[in-house]
This record gives sequence, C-alpha cells and structure tokens, in this order.
Amino acid sequence: MNKTILSILVLASFSYGVEPSVALKSYMLELQNQAKILNPNFLNFDAKIGKDIFFQKQIVDGKEISCTTCHTKNLGSQGLNSKTNKIIDPLSPSVNRLRLTDVKEMKKWLKRNFNDVYKREGTAQEKGNVLAFILKN
Ligand code: HEC
Repeated sequence: MNKTILSILVLASFSYGVEPSVALKSYMLELQNQAKILNPNFLNFDAKIGKDIFFQKQIVDGKEISCTTCHTKNLGSQGLNSKTNKIIDPLSPSVNRLRLTDVKEMKKWLKRNFNDVYKREGTAQEKGNVLAFILKN
C-alpha cells in the first residue's frame, strides 16, 4: 500500500467529535510522518494520551501549571490566560468553529504552550495526541 493511502486510512480510523478541518488533516499527516520517523512502529494518535498531556500538572517556577490552567478542564468553556488575564475563546472545535483551522496558528501555539507547561517544544507524537484529544471534545 502506498504511504499516502495508508495515512488516509489511519486518519479515517479516528472517531472525531467534529469533522476535522482541511488544515487540521494536513497538519496531522505532517505530524504523523514525523512521528513515524522517530518511531517506525507508530500507528495512530491517541486522544487518551492527549488527554493526559492536557491535564498533567507540572511545576514551573514554583507554580503548578497544566494546559487546563489557561484553557480550563472543560474545552467547551472560555479560558483565561494566566499570564495576561485575557479571555481565551473555547478550544473545542464543536463549540468554536474557528478552532484548529489554521496550521500556522496551531504550530505557533502548540510550540509556545508546550514550552509554558513542559519546558520543551513537544514531539510530533505528543502534538498529534493532544490535537486528537481537543478534536474529540
Ligand atoms: C499560559 C496560558 C496557556 C497555557 C498554559 C496553554 N495555553 Fe494553549 N493557548 C493559549 C493562548 C493565549 C492561545 C491563543 C489564543 C487563542 O487561540 O484564543 C492558545 C492557543 C492554543 C491552541 C491553538 C488553537 C487553534 O485553534 O489554533 C492550541 C492547540 C492550544 N492552545 C493547546 C494547548 C495545549 C496542548 C496546552 C498544554 C501543553 C496549552 N495550550 C496550554 C494559552 C495557553
């Protein structure tokens, strides 16, 4: 089977909360190809692992922080940026149709937000897992 067809089948096997945007599908394919380079046994992203990444608390500069600190535990709710005190629109694409529709935006914020919480950029597999989780919620 050629690689593209395989990738499409792998993506199609997700059960999404909402239909993923074209931008998200192409970004997930990119992440999937990167993940396979690092882990040849990689098959699919896992929303459950993504959920753990989203909820896991870290201590940064003596303070507890997780993705939920700014985005809350309910992805359908508005969040609050703990650094700037600005309101953040809900992250869930089922509530906010603009979510996960722009590759540049997703790359920029995942990189920045992984650094905020995990003090590193995050791997392709971690980013794909977390996007799969957000998409389902
Ligand atoms: C310090 C606050 C803060 C933390 C912690 C945080 N985020 Fe964010 N996040 C933001 C802000 C601010 C934006 C950009 C504003 C917006 O999109 O409404 C954003 C945007 C995003 C986006 C872009 C959504 C899109 O539609 O393109 C994703 C994905 C995201 N965050 C995931 C995460 C993940 C995963 C974590 C944990 C690793 C995390 N965030 C932790 C503040 C935060």
